[in-house]
Parts: sequence; C-alpha cells; structure tokens
Amino acid sequence: MAPSTLTVTDNRTDRTYTLPIENGTVRSMDFRQVRTSDEDFGLMMYDPAFMNTASCRSSITYIDGERGVLEYRGYPIEELADRCTFLEVAYLLLFGELPNETELKNWVHEITHHTMLHETTKKFMEGFRYDSHPMSMLVSTVAALATVYPEAKDVQNPANRLHQIKRLIGKMPTVAAMSYRHSVGFPYVYPDNDLSYTGNFMNMLWRMVEPKYAANPVLAKALDVLFILHADHEQNCSTNAMRSVGSSLADPYLSVAAAAAALSGPLHGGANEEVLKMLDEIGTKDNVPAYVRRVKDGHGKLMGFGHRVYKNFDPRATIIKQVADEVFEVTGKNAKLEIALELERIALEDEYFIKRKLYPNVDFYSGIIYQAMGFRPEMFTVLFAIPRTVGWLAQWQELLVDTEQKIARPRQIYTGQRSRSFLPIEERHPAVLAGV
Ligand code: CMC
Repeated sequence: MAPSTLTVTDNRTDRTYTLPIENGTVRSMDFRQVRTSDEDFGLMMYDPAFMNTASCRSSITYIDGERGVLEYRGYPIEELADRCTFLEVAYLLLFGELPNETELKNWVHEITHHTMLHETTKKFMEGFRYDSHPMSMLVSTVAALATVYPEAKDVQNPANRLHQIKRLIGKMPTVAAMSYRHSVGFPYVYPDNDLSYTGNFMNMLWRMVEPKYAANPVLAKALDVLFILHADHEQNCSTNAMRSVGSSLADPYLSVAAAAAALSGPLHGGANEEVLKMLDEIGTKDNVPAYVRRVKDGHGKLMGFGHRVYKNFDPRATIIKQVADEVFEVTGKNAKLEIALELERIALEDEYFIKRKLYPNVDFYSGIIYQAMGFRPEMFTVLFAIPRTVGWLAQWQELLVDTEQKIARPRQIYTGQRSRSFLPIEERHPAVLAGV
C-alpha cells in the first residue's frame, strides 16, 4: 500500500520534506519546517474564509455536501426529524447517544425546570426601544445573563458546564419570546411547565387572556421538526464564533451571545428574513424572470440559495418542503409560496445557477412556513438561534475537552507599511477609511 505521506520539494532550496497525511489532512504546522534559512519563520498556509482548513476534530455532525447527507452523531437527519423530539435530538448531540426512556424523562424535566428567567431580565428588556430587532435583543439579553450566573465562568468544571448548558437550552425560548412580546408591546408570559418545549414557546409568544394556552399540535410538531433541522451544522460561521470565543475560556453566556451575533448576518441565519423581503420585493410570480436576470447581472444575490458545503441539495430544505405541506393544511397556503416555487423552478433550470451549484438552502422555505404560522420576519433568525444553541453548546463542550485545542489565534500576511518615521501633526494629510 502506498504510504500516507505527502512529499514536498521547496524549489527555493531544493530540499524535500515528507509530511504525514492523516484523515485526508496535512498539518499546517508541519510546513513550518519548510524554511530558506534559520532566520526564516517557515511556510504558513493562507486560507481566507477557511475554504479548505479543518479547525478541529469533531464527532458531532457529519455532512457530505456533494451527496446532500447530514447526520447527527451518525443518525440521518431524515430519521431524526421523523422519529424524535427536539429535546431527544438535543440529548443526542450533547451526550453522543439517544436517551433511553428514563434519561429522556429526566432530561425533559431538567430543561423544563430551567425555563424561568431572573426577574431582573425584564428590566434589561424594558431598556430596549419599542422597535428594536428581536435578534439584537436576544444577543444582548443572553450576554446579560452572564451577570446573573457569575459562577458560569468556571468553564473547566464539567458539572458546572452541564448546569449552564441546561440553563441555556431552557432559557433561550423564554428570552426569544420576551424579545417578541417587547417588540409588540404585550406583557411577558411566564413559562408553563406542563407544555412541551415548542408548545411552551408558543405559549410564551402568543398567550393573551386565556388561562391556559393550547398550541395547535400540528404547528407545535412542525416547529419541533424545524428545531431538529437547525440544531447543528458542524463548523459554520456561528459555530466557529462559539469555538473561537470559547477557546479563550470566556463564559458560555457570552460565547453563545457571540455565536448568535454571527448567526444574525444575512449570509448566515439572517438569510431567512432576507428571503421574505426578497419575495415581497418580487411581488408576483410574473416578476420572477426579471428578478433572476438582475441577480445574474450582479445586482444582489438570490437569498436562500447557495451553500458553502452543499453543492447538490440541502437535505434540510427537502424535509422543510414536506413540513410546509402539513403547516399549510392548518394555516392555508402562504401567498409567497407560489413566487418561491417559481423562483426555484427558474433558478434550477438556469445555466448560471447550475454551473455554480446553487440550490435552495434551509432558509429558502423556512421563512414561508414561519410566516404562515404567524411569526413576523424579524423573528425568523431568533427561531434559528433557539435550536442552534444546542449545537453551539455541544461544540463548546467538545472544544473544552479536546487536548489538541488552544486559544484560537490565526496568523496573517502583513501587507502594511513598516518602520516609518513619525509624522508631526502639522505635516499630516486627511486620510480616508481603509477600504472605502
Ligand atoms: N445568488 C446568486 N449568486 C450566488 C449566490 C446566490 N445566493 N450564492 C453564491 N453565488 C455565486 C457567487 O456570486 C459566486 O459567483 P462567481 O463565481 O461568478 O463569483 C459563486 O456563486 C460562488 O459563491 P461564493 O460566494 O464564493 O460561495 P460561498 O461558499 O462563499 O458562499 C453563501 C455561500 C451561502 C454565503 C452564498 O451562497 C450566499 O450568499 N447565499 C445567499 C445567502 C444565504 O442564503 N445564506 C444562508 C446559507 S444556509 C444557512 C446558514 O448558513 O445559515
């Protein structure tokens, strides 16, 4: 059998190096020995946006982007979405195995009993303007929870970590619902521990004067499935933020806030809100061809299309289309669906999108379902953040027990000026912001 090594010749020195290949990967640090002299720093790898760099070993989520495969801890997403509850999947992601009946019962009980927030949280909320974006309120409030639980700083203590993990999973829907109620001016609703995870979330969002809220079971189930689909997605932008901030041993509330901030961007979790704006802008099915032409001419992107990893189809989008049918049975069809289907049809037949392997991603249809269920577009990314908190925490836990990990600290290629003579103030010229 051929050896698992890579032979590299440095043409500057004619020296040859043999580097081990493990898991289809060479270690960047092995290239540091490739030097022209003793003073030379050694070769570095340049990879802006991590296009081809593995930053960790992980046994949580497996993706095969070419074949459209997504597995949590080895279980296909299709089976988990069909047969599990969200909290069951959360347990699987965190503990590595599906829970037995007793474990699941205890787990659900513990998460349910961590849904309450300290009363002072209401005061943080009241400080936000009436029209604050719910995602900004969520990020800030989760960060503020670090002030309520200062003991969370002890991140090297496994029992303490698990305690904070349960708190965060339990409290995330409560914070999310409060940010929604704040934005519509309704009083906050306390959690109801008799209800399921998603049933209780719907209670905290939509209960008005009725003594007990009863969620529509089809919609609560649909939300549960959507939460399963969003629970983890290996080393995406927000997970990378979670790991990067967590690697400094920051406390988990601040790390989750950083991850949620990364999620809020329109190229990541914020895309679901942008899809709805785009469908509004298109307006009618007849305007779709002209809109697609504009995108191809370089004016904007088709939001909800394309993915760094999936280059064939996004398996989550396939499941979401099935969920959509069940939701529309209850709510009636969302008028945007017709435009979305036409957009998908035209784009999938178009050379521009075929050549670049651009397919609808998870965010393309999720917003249409959320809107039919009664959510406002500003809430869509918040709905993504609730389940993804589980993935962030599973990845954070994995990071902290990984002996190969250290504080995340990339290198750079310095392109600026060097060793300039100091310029007295009277000799300086107006400068423009770099990159403007
Ligand atoms: N519409 C039109 N063209 C696109 C799109 C799009 N949605 N996405 C990529 N392209 C083009 C891009 O312009 C580039 O073309 P060219 O080769 O001519 O320069 C080519 O396709 C490759 O794109 P890229 O930007 O190099 O790909 P990337 O891997 O860096 O970006 C992405 C991935 C998801 C950020 C990008 O596809 C995108 O911006 N999509 C729209 C936003 C979106 O839906 N985001 C949600 C992603 S899934 C859920 C999540 O992660 O939260």
